[in-house]
Amino acid sequence: MQNYIIRNETPADYRTVENLTREAFWNVYRPGCLEHYVLHQFRDRPDFVRELDLVMELNGEIIGHVMYARSAIKHDDGRIIPIMTFGPISIAPKFKRRGYGTILLRYSMEKAKELGAGALAITGNIGFYGKSGFVVSKTRGVRYEDDPDADYFLIAELEPGFLEGISGTYKDPDGYFVDEKAVEEFDTAFPPKEKLKLPGQLF
Ligand SMILES: CC(C)(COP(=O)(O)OP(=O)(O)OC[C@H]1O[C@@H](n2cnc3c(N)ncnc32)[C@H](O)[C@@H]1OP(=O)(O)O)[C@@H](O)C(=O)NCCC(=O)NCCS
Repeated sequence: MQNYIIRNETPADYRTVENLTREAFWNVYRPGCLEHYVLHQFRDRPDFVRELDLVMELNGEIIGHVMYARSAIKHDDGRIIPIMTFGPISIAPKFKRRGYGTILLRYSMEKAKELGAGALAITGNIGFYGKSGFVVSKTRGVRYEDDPDADYFLIAELEPGFLEGISGTYKDPDGYFVDEKAVEEFDTAFPPKEKLKLPGQLF
């Protein structure tokens, strides 16, 4: 655990990090994955948070990555409340479940707070995120616009009290929606991998 560092991603890391993302997500939520292309596209978007585009290195090897995007809660009273969202967050398969994801997540949450984010929203597994301050978002008054009852839509307050009295909806930033044909095309530049339909996948 001692020899890791967390630093900003540089252009020289892009392909390595996209491949890491692909390896981390492959066949986890669907046959194959989209997340490496999401990341590839996001870096050029205005809502991409460059300061929070972070890689984790262990003994000089990149084993983790996370990216953040600016997002918003649409308050029922019409206000737009800026927050942030993050992901993909990836740990290389052979390093999963050794605590590195938690370290990277918590470090990035601290940095997001320093950059002024009052709260973070994410669709994800409460088993992992619940240990780092996330709760089911609808219990704090923020509903996932496409699925208001969703238990997988989570939120964490970074600034104490930020969510007090809030009632509103959240929609993922446009950068998270990608054309599956474009993903297939993009994927041909990576080493061949077999897409498998596995139990537990969401899509
Ligand atoms: C999710 C991910 C980033 C977590 O990183 P990690 O280093 O493997 O996680 P940690 O070792 O820090 O996990 C800490 C705890 O979170 C929980 N946890 C971690 N991954 C989990 C998962 N997939 N499902 C449920 N709980 C999980 C466990 O309780 C774990 O503790 P334990 O191993 O003692 O049981 C990593 O596994 C990954 O890259 N997964 C594939 C991509 C992905 O799903 N990203 C998140 C999308 S929302």
